Amino acid sequence: MDQDLGESRRARRRRRSRSAVICGCAVAVLLLVVVVPAVLLGNRTGTFKATFLEKCEKITAESGSPDCVKVWSAFEQAYVGRDPCEVPMEAYDHLISTAPPQPACNRMMFWSKTKDLAHLVSDSCYQTMEDTLLGSVLDGQTWCGKKGSSNTYTSGCPGWTECENNPVKSFWKRGSTEFAAVACGNTTAMLNGSIATPFSSASIFAIEVTQFTSDRMRSLTVIMVTNDVVVSNCTNESLKDLQKELDPGIRYICKEVTESALNTCREVPDTCAPCW
Ligand code: APR
Repeated sequence: MDQDLGESRRARRRRRSRSAVICGCAVAVLLLVVVVPAVLLGNRTGTFKATFLEKCEKITAESGSPDCVKVWSAFEQAYVGRDPCEVPMEAYDHLISTAPPQPACNRMMFWSKTKDLAHLVSDSCYQTMEDTLLGSVLDGQTWCGKKGSSNTYTSGCPGWTECENNPVKSFWKRGSTEFAAVACGNTTAMLNGSIATPFSSASIFAIEVTQFTSDRMRSLTVIMVTNDVVVSNCTNESLKDLQKELDPGIRYICKEVTESALNTCREVPDTCAPCW
């Protein structure tokens, strides 16, 4: 009898240790097959999607529209399952119609190679592309898909200049095109006076200029931001290219303003008086 009891205890112990080995193996397989590749390939769809929805819902909290789940779905439709170098700007058409930019007439600001300063100056006084719903949700983010996968990847994606039709660049081209197309009233563009070609035909701002229409826009004031060493001012050749592209019905103005004047001006709280 005692012998039988001892036998069954030993058998139970053997079964328990076999189950522990099986459990251990299962965890190891899960780690190898799911977690490790996900981390290595930068598959953090969960985090990226959660951040997207969180930011979107914060912005739409008051109006309740557009529906952020629909916005996410329209967004991922553009690039998921595609070669990350084959996402043209048109892929975002549906996204843009789901969450179109809402223009703020007479307060719209464009920029080229002056991102930080333009946002410092525009802060709650002017509206930039990065202040729109999609612009603010996606600013500073990287994303792409892969052929045959339904995931969103946030690393291992092509760089900005690696291929023209990458998901990030195509989004900014398409979103900015729309933002510019609805621009209205008196508008501003902040350009960099510390570089030789403040208006570059290769920039997204150059695409935006072609979208400006005198049906909506009255004037464009170019602010040439200068530093101690002035490389370009309002007489710069590249500005002639800008004027050639501009709808002749839009009044063109150019002003030179120093970076320190802009910084000082923005230090005055609670005023949206122009700094130029
Ligand atoms: N990676 C990710 N995003 C980038 C990168 C990059 N390497 N480079 C630029 N961008 C994004 C910026 O965040 C910005 O929103 O693309 C946009 C254009 O950046 P720039 O090339 O520095 O500027 P530019 O081509 O002159 O166009 C700026 O585009 O975003 C609109 O309305 C905005 O008027 C502005 C214009």
